[in-house]
Amino acid sequence: MEDAHRTWAEPWKIKMVEPIRMTTREEREAAIEAAGYNTFLLEADDVYIDLLTDSGTSAMSDRQWSALMLGDEAYAGSKSFYKLVDAVREVYGYEELVPTHQGRGAEHILSQILIKEGDVVPGNMYFTTTRFHQERAGGKFVDVIVDEAHDPHSLAAFKGNIDMAKLRAVVDEYGADRVPYVSFETNVNMAGGQPVSMANLREVYEYCHPLGILVMLDATRAAENAWFIKQREYGYHDQPISQILREMTSWSDGATVSSKKDNLVNIGGFLALRDPELARQARSMLVAFEGLHTYGGMSGRDMEALAAGIHEMVDTDDHIRARVGQVEYLGDKLIKAGIPVIRPIGGHGVFLDAGTILEHVPQEQFPAQALAAAIYVDSGVRGMERGIVSAGRDPQTGKNRHPALELVRLTIPRRVYTQSHMDVTAESVIKVWEHRDSIRGLRFTYEPESLRFFQARFEPVD
Ligand code: F0G
Repeated sequence: MEDAHRTWAEPWKIKMVEPIRMTTREEREAAIEAAGYNTFLLEADDVYIDLLTDSGTSAMSDRQWSALMLGDEAYAGSKSFYKLVDAVREVYGYEELVPTHQGRGAEHILSQILIKEGDVVPGNMYFTTTRFHQERAGGKFVDVIVDEAHDPHSLAAFKGNIDMAKLRAVVDEYGADRVPYVSFETNVNMAGGQPVSMANLREVYEYCHPLGILVMLDATRAAENAWFIKQREYGYHDQPISQILREMTSWSDGATVSSKKDNLVNIGGFLALRDPELARQARSMLVAFEGLHTYGGMSGRDMEALAAGIHEMVDTDDHIRARVGQVEYLGDKLIKAGIPVIRPIGGHGVFLDAGTILEHVPQEQFPAQALAAAIYVDSGVRGMERGIVSAGRDPQTGKNRHPALELVRLTIPRRVYTQSHMDVTAESVIKVWEHRDSIRGLRFTYEPESLRFFQARFEPVD
């Protein structure tokens, strides 16, 4: 199928459509003000092209929709659960499945069973909910990602990798006893959807395993990561994504997965493990927080659609190729127009370098938040802030964390939008870029205690 010199098109055709509403600039100005300049607080009906997230926004296939009808809603021992167990064993290679309502449910359970007060969890850049649960369990997250990840100008092929020297330094400082596991994310979201290499996965596991430190993947976007390994790492070009994914997970002791991404469903997630004893501990917590161990937080039909989605994700490489290809299509348009973006273009979205675009707005005035609001007002395209607002405050000092990356994420849902939607998005970003000097910073009018980016409200500074 693959011919690098030919244009590709989506490996699907459209059977059902969902009309979207067009709005006027005046309507959008009123909407963003009412939303406190936070794109999370907009009503979706006021959004034209919704690039807030790739989470739970995928279009399911006709096979997945028909699988819903097969859902077995038995409270205990549902047939659909066993299909899901088989899918996870076959595609990810983990024996023990602990189903949850979504990714953060799995992160909660994993953090509670592995982390003790005073423990340290090294990881390749934080993710908001993941770090929240690690800290809530009494742990301290330490970032051990390679320096290139923090540099929007670096063109390194695997900007998600763990820096072995940083990891060793953490283990030497605190001792292996206080490091229950390494939190290893594939296609690192906060770094711009940047992949980790197979060599790095192997090296981390070979270092940790003899020390008794577990390696827990956040495999939420592992299939997209596998695509980059296929493109960029020697020896993988001719392997199917399914095989690369199995090798990736073989260098780990378990994984948390938000199935709302790679797995092509609108809700669901899981914790997968190799060790039956850890799985037992997880299940005993599960019944208190998520649901019985054969459904977690999912209905029988959710588990059917998820099992089908896990297979579809890797049945052929065409899906992932088109998925990442569409993201690159948008990214390349913006690069050609001279817009500062995180490069290389990542797997699930295009990340605008808001710190550079709005050089005149200090980080304490939330440049990425202001840029996301300005793009919405221009065209009804909704992106999200991934900068100082998302980073939150240090729980010890109460001070704002200052991340090196101050970004607006334009995240592409899977199988939902056409290239024309990408063209409209690119036109809007270019227009806002041309008028960037007129964009003002923001200040808080309401700041929630935790995960503040979801519900914070702002107003423009004078
Ligand atoms: N891990 C990663 C890497 C994620 O991107 C997310 C969610 C989660 C865990 C949590 O999973 O939402 O199912 O509870 N990311 C979404 C996003 C919210 O928009 O990036 P969840």
